[in-house]
Amino acid sequence: MKVLVLGASGFIGNYLYDSFLQDGVVVDGTYFTRKIKPEYIQLDLTNMTEVSSFFKERTYDFIILAAANKNVKQCEDSYDIAYKLNVLPVEHLLNSLGPSSSSTIIFMSSDYVFDGTKGNYSETSDTNPQTNYGKTKLLAEELLLKNASNSFIVRTSAVMGKGGVFFDWLVGEIRNTENVTMFDNIFFTPTPISYLASMLKKLCSSNNELKNTRVLHVVGGRKFSRYEFAKYIKELIPSSSCEVIAEKAQESQFMQKDLSMVSVKLNSDNYEDEYFKRELV
Ligand SMILES: NC(=O)c1ccc[n+]([C@@H]2O[C@H](COP(=O)([O-])OP(=O)(O)OC[C@H]3O[C@@H](n4cnc5c(N)ncnc54)[C@H](OP(=O)(O)O)[C@@H]3O)[C@@H](O)[C@H]2O)c1
Repeated sequence: MKVLVLGASGFIGNYLYDSFLQDGVVVDGTYFTRKIKPEYIQLDLTNMTEVSSFFKERTYDFIILAAANKNVKQCEDSYDIAYKLNVLPVEHLLNSLGPSSSSTIIFMSSDYVFDGTKGNYSETSDTNPQTNYGKTKLLAEELLLKNASNSFIVRTSAVMGKGGVFFDWLVGEIRNTENVTMFDNIFFTPTPISYLASMLKKLCSSNNELKNTRVLHVVGGRKFSRYEFAKYIKELIPSSSCEVIAEKAQESQFMQKDLSMVSVKLNSDNYEDEYFKRELV
């Protein structure tokens, strides 16, 4: 099996690259501005000429698209910026590979394709993105579902692990400060990065039940408010004396109050402690 991770210099991409490598899989990784491993290959996914010549020289069994602009605020400021990195690479990939390609594309998508009003969204829930980030992620999903029969959409949410901006900040606060204040009216489904990687590897291995679906939710097994999650992480750090304080987020036009997801395709009961503890060592 030969795997390509597009966006291997990112938080998720780099973890996936290492994970495949550890399993002895032949894996290539690309970067755009940050060559964090000497073997990573430079590729601008917004440049059709570059993408096309990259795939003229190389073939893969699985292509994981983990490059994106996930900066919700920046995407909100400009739909064009959101489109450029969240949709254009998919168009370039489809045009470069062509309709007869035997490569399977795995697209990393997001909870933001939902509207955040009800939560507990499953693979069969209606999408209704409220932000440019969510709208462009959904557009990319639709392009793939329509034009590449051998593609999978993997929606994940609030991926947590060492190197993740929110997770590192939260763990730092809980370890080193007297108190941290978190919203108790914003809900989400934190996903341990090692769990995400193990599910993606399962998707790439042959003859498994995950291949019966085109859209898959890979998320943590519990819905938390941000406040509850901070309390949960504090419990996993017994030396911490940090007090977690609850506050309410103000309602606003773009407030996504409950983006929690579930998976009807996967059973993800009771695994969190073990996966989250790994990230705290
Ligand atoms: N992190 C989460 O909690 C989360 C949750 C749900 C879904 N997702 C999805 O998972 C995917 C990966 O997220 P992440 O957190 O790993 O993102 P990230 O850390 O921001 O990484 C983004 C990647 O995109 C690359 N990139 C940026 N511009 C590029 C360009 N023009 N051409 C090629 N590559 C370019 C970056 O390369 P350089 O750094 O080298 O410039 C980097 O490797 C995204 O699709 C995101 O929507 C993430």
